Amino acid sequence: MKFEHKLRGNVSFGVNPIGCKQEVLNQINYVKEQGAYDGPKKVLIIGASSSYGLATRISLAFGAKADTIGVSFEKGPKSEKNLGTAGWYNNIYFKQFAEAEGLVAKNFVGDAFSHESKAEVIEYIKNEFGGKVDLVVYSLASGVRVDPDTGVRYNSVIKSINQTVVGPHIDISKHEFQEHTLEPATEEEIANTVKVMGGEDWQFWMEDLKEAGVLADGVLTVNYSYLGSDLNRPYYGGGTLGRAKADCEVKAANINASLADINGKATIVVATAVTTKASSVIPFFPVYCLGLYRVMEDNGTHETPIMHQDRIYRTMLYGNAPEYDDEGRLRPDNWELDPEVQAATEALIMTIDADNFDSDKTGYAVFMKEFNNLSGFDVDNYVDEEVTLEELMALEY
Ligand code: NAI
Repeated sequence: MKFEHKLRGNVSFGVNPIGCKQEVLNQINYVKEQGAYDGPKKVLIIGASSSYGLATRISLAFGAKADTIGVSFEKGPKSEKNLGTAGWYNNIYFKQFAEAEGLVAKNFVGDAFSHESKAEVIEYIKNEFGGKVDLVVYSLASGVRVDPDTGVRYNSVIKSINQTVVGPHIDISKHEFQEHTLEPATEEEIANTVKVMGGEDWQFWMEDLKEAGVLADGVLTVNYSYLGSDLNRPYYGGGTLGRAKADCEVKAANINASLADINGKATIVVATAVTTKASSVIPFFPVYCLGLYRVMEDNGTHETPIMHQDRIYRTMLYGNAPEYDDEGRLRPDNWELDPEVQAATEALIMTIDADNFDSDKTGYAVFMKEFNNLSGFDVDNYVDEEVTLEELMALEY
């Protein structure tokens, strides 16, 4: 079967399942090369099938020998034209590799926002996962959320607030460098984005897990945030997503209060900018990445999700070199926000135009490789393997 990388704008529809398998294996091998570390043993990851959630799962399983439960919203194959989503295959192959090493790897595919998903996961922890988890990672990125109580559907939007933003963007499918205009969000759009990408559902998960008695004493829960810099504040930190991230901090405080009696802790981890399905569709962000990646590649600090998450868990959260800010947030993003890196990134971005955006002067090649890797294309060590639709449909998640 031929696998085709189909794109619309900056959204990928095609998938190479065998490439996804190799990409999962490459990440596992990266973690193994760093050696073993002491970490949590029973982990729940909400949003586990791609990028930051998947990298977290791989680091904890193959670095710290953790049993993991992954919750995600992915689609399986239906026909040769519709092979489903990359995350579907990431789940499957992660499970295969983890089980081969004697680890428990349970996948739940469904809507994490629903009561049913929470109840199903809790039942599983109680009956088949040893009764308790010692780490809960919330790594969800979604454009929609259906409120489980009212049935109302909310859409998140990526917009600025109180200002129109004009700047450079790239359309990956058209291979075009364009000027993009972002109109400010309405109050309703801001509220809806907070409803979808804010911390409410994280808090709901933690309340339900606690009430069910499945959180271990000293449990840690983590939520990934992004703060960014002046270069992206107009459309990120100061925009709708920034509001949603601020809401996560409010909810972290609520969760901390409710976990005090079991010595639990909620931590906001401010992660670095990486190429993911969620971040590629943020207007202007790819161009920021073209500048940033060139600078960080050149000074040896550029990280992919697996490099970043492995560093976070190995050296910070379960290591002896955590770096917290005054608000109590973990700050592995300090390499990105280093003033020299930011100044060089800004200077470079000012020179990027339609003629040179895809040249070696920028991080284009790095960005595109990482973007293609998300769907199983352009993967290192890839070996073509003949596979039929029936075989793909028979894979167990
Ligand atoms: P992603 O799009 O690669 O992954 C999102 C995950 O959420 C997937 O596993 C997907 O299946 C799952 N998901 C989405 N809707 C769901 C639903 N209704 N039910 C169950 N699962 C669902 O996203 P990415 O970029 O890894 O983002 C994860 C977190 O990291 C987000 O909070 C994001 O804001 C944060 N972050 C991302 C950065 C970046 O540069 N990409 C930087 C810093 C933080």
